[in-house]
Formats: sequence, C-alpha cells, structure tokens
Amino acid sequence: MALGASVSAPPPLAGVVVVAVLLLLLPEAAEPRTLLSLDDFGAVGDGITNDTQALVDAWSAACATDDHTFLHVPAVKSYLIWPVTLAGPCREEIKLFISGNIVAPESPDDWPESGRSKWLHFHGVSDLTLSGGGVIDGRGQRWWARFCKTKHNATENCTTQAAPKALHFEDCQGISVKGITLQNSQQSHLTFTRCSHVKASYLRITSPEESPDTTGVHVVSSRNVHIMDDLIATGHDCVSIVGNSTDVRLRAISCGPGHGISIGGLGENRSYHRVEKIKMDTLFISNTENGVRVKTYQGGCGTARKVKFGDILMKNVKNPIIIHQQHSSSNEIPCASNNRSAVTVGKISYMDITGTSASERAVTFSCSDAAPCSKLSLENVNLTMAGGQNASAYCHQAFGKSVGVVVPDSCLTKEDFLRRQVPVATTGMLEQGGEDDGDDDDR
Ligand SMILES: *[C@@H]1O[C@H](CO)[C@@H](O)[C@H](O)[C@H]1NC(C)=O
Ligand SMILES: *[C@@H]1O[C@H](CO)[C@@H](O)[C@H](O)[C@H]1NC(C)=O
Ligand SMILES: *[C@@H]1O[C@H](CO)[C@@H](O)[C@H](O)[C@H]1NC(C)=O
Ligand SMILES: *[C@@H]1O[C@H](CO)[C@@H](O)[C@H](O)[C@H]1NC(C)=O
Ligand SMILES: *[C@@H]1O[C@H](CO)[C@@H](O)[C@H](O)[C@H]1NC(C)=O
Ligand SMILES: *[C@@H]1O[C@H](CO)[C@@H](O)[C@H](O)[C@H]1NC(C)=O
Ligand SMILES: *[C@@H]1O[C@H](CO)[C@@H](O)[C@H](O)[C@H]1NC(C)=O
Ligand SMILES: *[C@@H]1O[C@H](CO)[C@@H](O)[C@H](O)[C@H]1NC(C)=O
Repeated sequence: MALGASVSAPPPLAGVVVVAVLLLLLPEAAEPRTLLSLDDFGAVGDGITNDTQALVDAWSAACATDDHTFLHVPAVKSYLIWPVTLAGPCREEIKLFISGNIVAPESPDDWPESGRSKWLHFHGVSDLTLSGGGVIDGRGQRWWARFCKTKHNATENCTTQAAPKALHFEDCQGISVKGITLQNSQQSHLTFTRCSHVKASYLRITSPEESPDTTGVHVVSSRNVHIMDDLIATGHDCVSIVGNSTDVRLRAISCGPGHGISIGGLGENRSYHRVEKIKMDTLFISNTENGVRVKTYQGGCGTARKVKFGDILMKNVKNPIIIHQQHSSSNEIPCASNNRSAVTVGKISYMDITGTSASERAVTFSCSDAAPCSKLSLENVNLTMAGGQNASAYCHQAFGKSVGVVVPDSCLTKEDFLRRQVPVATTGMLEQGGEDDGDDDDR
C-alpha cells in the first residue's frame, strides 16, 4: 500500500502575500493625544458666569499632560474671562482650539486695579497653537470712551493710563495664532513681546476706525515672526514693530482702515531700539492714515535698517510712504552721550508700490539732521492722488537712489553727498559705521 502512495506536490502557496511593511508611512495618529473641553472644568459659557477658574484649571491640566493636548473652547457659547496669566513651560505641545467666544468684562471698573495692562496673557510658553474659528472679543468700548486721546467725547472721567492688551504672548516661542477672530480689543489685539518663531495667519482682526490704540498685531523685541494672510481693520496700526526685533515677515495682508503698517515709534523716552531684517510684500492698504511708515523719536538711539517693502497696492492712503524722524517735544537728554543722537534709519527699499494717495504728498522722507536717512531706495513706484492729480515727494536729509519708474519724482539726494562727519549716535553699538558694505549706487 505504502508503495502506491503518491506524494502529491505541496499545494502552491497561492495565498502568499508579500506584505511590504512601510514603517515610514504609519500615520502619525499613533502619537498619543489628549482631548479636553473647557466645559469639563466647570465652565458655563453663558457670557455672564465667571469662567476664569475653569480656564485656569483646564490650562493646568493641559500643561501637565505628557501628550499632545487639544483644549477645546466649545462653539456657540460665550465664556467670560477676567484678566488671566497662563504660564509655561508645559510638558508637551498644546492646541487651544477656540471655536466659541471668549469675552472680557465690559466695564474697566470690573478689572482689578493691579491687572489693567493685559487681559489674556501667556507667559513663558512654547509650542502653542491657537485656532478653531472662534472669537476673542475684548469688548473695549468702555475703555475707549474713558481714554483721553479718543476722538469721542469721554463719557467717563478720562485717563491716559494704557488699556489692557487683549491677547499677549510674552517670552514665548513656537507660537501660532491662526484662523480666529480678534475684535474690539481694549488696546492692541495681538502682542508678541520677546517671542521667537511666531506665526499669525488667517486672522480677522477688527475694531471700529475711531477706537484708540487698537493696534492689530504689535511685535515687540521678537524675532522670526511671520504675519500672513490676515485681514486687519482697526483704529490704530495694522501691524507695528518695535523694540529689538529681527526677521519679521509680512505677506498678504489686507490693511485698513487704521494707521497702516509701522516700524516704530522707535526710541521714545531715550530708549534703545533696533529693528532689522524686515520684509513685507503683497499688502493691500486702503483708507489708512499711513501706508508704510518708519517713525523714530529724537533723543532715542538704535537703528531701523534692512527693511524691504515690496508689491504694495495703496488706495486712498494719506501718507503712503513715510519716514518720520520726530523731534522730541522736550529738551530731554538723549540716551547716548552724544547730544544729537537719534535712531538711525538706513537700507530701506520700496519696490513695486502703486496706487493712490489721499493727500498731495505721497512720499515723505523727513529725516533728522543728527542722523540723516541713508541708502533708501525707490524702484517702480507710482503713486498718484486719489482724484488723478499728480502727487509730490518731500525729502529732508534723505539719501539714496531711485530705479525705474518713480512717480512722483524721487527727491532723494545721491549717497555720495552724505556727510561723513555725521556723529555716530550711540556708544559702542554697531550703527551706520558698520554699514559700508559696498552696495552704494548712485542711480
Ligand atoms: C473671576 O474668577 C477669577 C478666578 O477665580 C477671580 O480671580 C476673579 O476675581 C473673579 N472675578 C470676579 C469679578 O469675581
Ligand atoms: C462733544 O460734546 C460737546 C458738548 O457736549 C458737543 O457739542 C459735541 O458735539 C460732542 N462731540 C461729539 C463728537 O460727540
Ligand atoms: C469723575 O471724577 C470725579 C472726581 O474724582 C468723581 O467725583 C466722579 O464720580 C467721577 N465720575 C465717574 C463717572 O467716574
Ligand atoms: C534692546 O537691546 C539693548 C541692548 O541689548 C537694550 O539695552 C535695550 O534696552 C533693548 N531695547 C528694548 C526696547 O528692549
Ligand atoms: C514717555 O514719557 C512720557 C512722559 O513721561 C510718558 O507719558 C510716556 O508714556 C512714555 N512713553 C513710553 C513708551 O515709555
Ligand atoms: C547739548 O546741546 C546744547 C544746545 O544745543 C548745548 O548747550 C549743550 O552744551 C550740549 N551738551 C553736550 C553734552 O554736548
Ligand atoms: C501711474 O499710474 C497712473 C494711474 O494708474 C497711470 O495713469 C500712469 O500711466 C502710471 N504711470 C506710469 C509711469 O506708469
Ligand atoms: C503730472 O506729471 C506728469 C509726469 O511727471 C507731467 O507730464 C505733467 O505735466 C504733470 N501734470 C501737472 C498738472 O503738473
């Protein structure tokens, strides 16, 4: 029997499937994440209840988890939050996903006397994203009304005390604020102080045109800041950059009404500011006080340099291009030992800027005798008056070149006339002296 046994061939391994294990394509979802809701921490969200403690508790929980944490502020509801500081460092990345409304107490009297400089304050935090489509509403009307500078009649006793900054990041890094609305801030809407690696994008930032000091994005002594794809329409600057700030990039901004884009004021009260490596392009600026402005105070020191303004369309802007080195109101002692100190302004280029000016003077380079502006450059600029008439340009102590079509005609003085005996404004700090890097060009 056994002899007849036929040994059949093993069946072909028809089902053999070669599984290519592509480890690299495994979804990142494997990374642990924690999802939290503000409501789980006792928040009510009726716009009346004080939800501050819930936010503080939720932040502490988010900050203490080892996972990548999403903290949701639920949609439709309105969370009334008193001034609060949310501090880091946290253990992991946090996403504050704001889909509902966060609102401030309306009356300045509701605010603690000691905490009136800020509302939502983040301090020492890294790797934080704010997004979610919701609204942060400063409800600043009562603050504006009591402000002496306001154009409105003060309805309460007026004060010169600064109102709170609405959303303020201080000593932070890796911050992204995107896709939310910031409105009716008491003072500036979004402020970054001593932060790095910052993104502010897809934002809608609005307050009434006549609201005082309601700057859109205020950058103070920060670096690596990207402000992009935003709508900013407020009562003050759309974006302002001050302090010691470097590598700031603006792109695709709709700005106006308000005061336009500003570098400065720099050097107020004899302070030292250094703003450099600033690049802006694709800006739509309309119905504003200024277009692109550099403003410095006499008596201060430091510098504003290496700034590029390009591809800008202006409509009905009062001062489309302006450098203003202001004279101090008092005879204060300048911050440098030299009597004639000022913040130096140099290497500012304006390229491909067109549109209309609401005033006859479309270009103003009003520089100081103490520190003339150097290496300014105009290239392909065409600004006319809103009614079609010719606009004009004004220069005082402004040196540089113009290239291509420049309308109104450039009034810059060629660089070789720049007086070499101009005293260097500051003690020991690198200023104009170090700038002779050979790109002088007289035409
Ligand atoms: C709201 O709650 C916070 C946190 O508990 C507290 O500090 C603040 O004083 C409260 N505000 C009022 C007006 O009760
Ligand atoms: C401010 O008040 C004065 C006096 O009450 C009034 O004449 C004026 O029209 C008011 N101005 C505005 C802008 O409301
Ligand atoms: C304005 O100030 C006066 C004097 O300090 C005070 O009597 C009055 O109550 C204040 N008014 C308001 C609305 O705060
Ligand atoms: C800028 O930096 C200088 C030198 O480090 C410092 O003295 C000055 O206070 C800083 N300015 C501001 C506005 O922080
Ligand atoms: C500068 O000094 C004036 C007068 O002392 C003060 O009102 C103002 O707030 C100061 N500005 C800054 C930026 O410190
Ligand atoms: C500063 O300038 C004033 C007037 O311009 C002059 O009287 C004063 O002596 C100067 N001070 C210094 C330290 O140079
Ligand atoms: C400048 O702009 C005006 C208005 O758009 C236009 O009519 C004019 O031809 C332009 N000038 C130059 C030199 O391009
Ligand atoms: C406006 O400027 C153009 C070009 O610079 C010039 O030809 C024209 O005469 C000017 N028009 C007036 C009214 O000044």
